This record gives sequence, structure tokens and C-alpha cells, in this order.
Amino acid sequence: MNKKVLITGGSRGIGRALALYFAEKQFDVAICARNQEKLEELALELKDFKVNVIAEVCDVSKPEAIKAFCSKVLAQWKQIDILVNNAGTYLPGKVTEETDGTLEKLIETNLYSAYYFSKSIASSMITNGSGYIFNIASVAGLQAYPNGGSYSISKFAMIGLSKALREELKSHNIRVTNISPGAVLTDSWAGVDLPESRFISAKDIAKIVFDLHGLSPQTDVEDLVVRPILGDI
Ligand SMILES: NC(=O)c1ccc[n+]([C@@H]2O[C@H](COP(=O)([O-])OP(=O)(O)OC[C@H]3O[C@@H](n4cnc5c(N)ncnc54)[C@H](OP(=O)(O)O)[C@@H]3O)[C@@H](O)[C@H]2O)c1
Repeated sequence: MNKKVLITGGSRGIGRALALYFAEKQFDVAICARNQEKLEELALELKDFKVNVIAEVCDVSKPEAIKAFCSKVLAQWKQIDILVNNAGTYLPGKVTEETDGTLEKLIETNLYSAYYFSKSIASSMITNGSGYIFNIASVAGLQAYPNGGSYSISKFAMIGLSKALREELKSHNIRVTNISPGAVLTDSWAGVDLPESRFISAKDIAKIVFDLHGLSPQTDVEDLVVRPILGDI
């Protein structure tokens, strides 16, 4: 039986690269996002690898939508081996100048999503006595920077969530890894006039996640920082 991975925000960017990489490695893949068309397109590509695919619209800023999606996936698959909390959105801004509501929007999409997905999936991992949760944070959660504003706050909080989950879940044999990437070439950087070579490739993040999962079950890489070789942009 294939192993199962659930990737939030799986339709584009890092999430899409993860979905393709895991499908190529014969994992069954569950993905969610808001844009149905993009999900359906990717689902077709994933099925070419002869794996089971669940691709559903789910707005991860809505806890009820998350719970419904997770219930559906668990009803079909009974267990999830890997959860990748990847969905996120970037809005540049300064705390003192951002429009009201910016922090709420970013916290809902970037933090509460991971919080509710983890809550929804962890109990089945506890029952199985194994599991792996990856949280995709950012270097913006390690170091504040000009125009980082609420995005940076949401990623600092994500790192806090990773630490809390790790403490709670380690005695259940569930590994938690927080990955903090620098600039990864995705839609988030659309229009930026820099060569591809200045970015991390999304596929490299996928390879890292896959390889970490392949380490011995007693080994947990707790925090990983990944940067372009020339540093942050
Ligand atoms: N790219 C970078 O340089 C970089 C660096 C560090 C960390 N990160 C983090 O890596 C993660 C992925 O980033 P990315 O660059 O791959 O982003 P992206 O290309 O913009 O893709 C974001 C993905 O998340 C989904 N998504 C966004 N809001 C959502 C919502 N409310 N509900 C459901 N799905 C939602 C998008 O699909 P829909 O729009 O269809 O919903 C899409 O599949 C994010 O957490 C980001 O903060 C990225």
C-alpha cells in the first residue's frame, strides 16, 4: 500500500513541486487550494504516476473547511503518513503602515491553517504510532526585515507552532520539522527582475522534505534553514 502525504496549498509553487515529487516516489497525494481549475490540472498530472490523488478546494483560512477536508481524506485513506503545512500567502508591508486586517489575514492563512491541519491530522498519527509534520515557515520568521511586516510576524509564530507540536508529539513517535526557506522561485516572486540562479528551486524544497522523511525514525531534524547560495534577496 502506498504511503500518504497531505500537502496544503498544493496547486502552485512549493506545494506543487512537493506533490509531483511525492507522486513520482509512489506516494498517494492529497492537495488543497482555492483555485479548482489549477487543482484539477495538477491532479491529472499526478495520476500519470499511477497513484491515488485527492484534490479538493479548501480555503485554509477557514477552520471548518480544514476540518471537513481532513475528515474526507481520513475517511478515504484512514491514515496520513506526512502532513506538509505549506499553504501561505505573502503581503509586503510595514506594521505601522499596513491596512488594518493585514495581520489577521496573514495569521489566518499562514498560521491558523497549520494549527488546524495539525490538530485535525495528529490524532490519527497518534493512533498509528507514527507520522511526520513539516511546517514551511520562512527566513522572515528568523529575522525581521524592512517591509516584512505582518508576514514576518506570521512566520515567527509558525516557528513557535513547530516547537510546541514537536514537544507534544515526540513521545508519540511523530517527527516535526520546521523548514525556513529564503527566496524560492514561485509566483510569489512574479515580476522580480533577477535570474533563476538567484533563487532556491521549489523542487529542491521537495527533495529536502522527501529525504528528511527517509531518515531513521528516531532522528528528527528540528529546524532547517535553506538559502540561495548568494544569500537573501
Ligand atoms: N517563495 C518563497 O520565496 C518562499 C520563501 C519562504 C517561505 N515560503 C513559504 O512557502 C509556502 C509556499 O509558498 P509559495 O511561494 O509556493 O507560494 P505560491 O506559489 O503563492 O503558492 C501558494 C499555494 O498556497 C495556496 N493558498 C494560498 N492561500 C490559500 C488559502 N487561503 N487556502 C488554500 N490554499 C491557499 C495557493 O493556491 P490558491 O491560490 O489556489 O489558493 C497555492 O497553491 C508559503 O507558506 C510561503 O510563505 C515561500
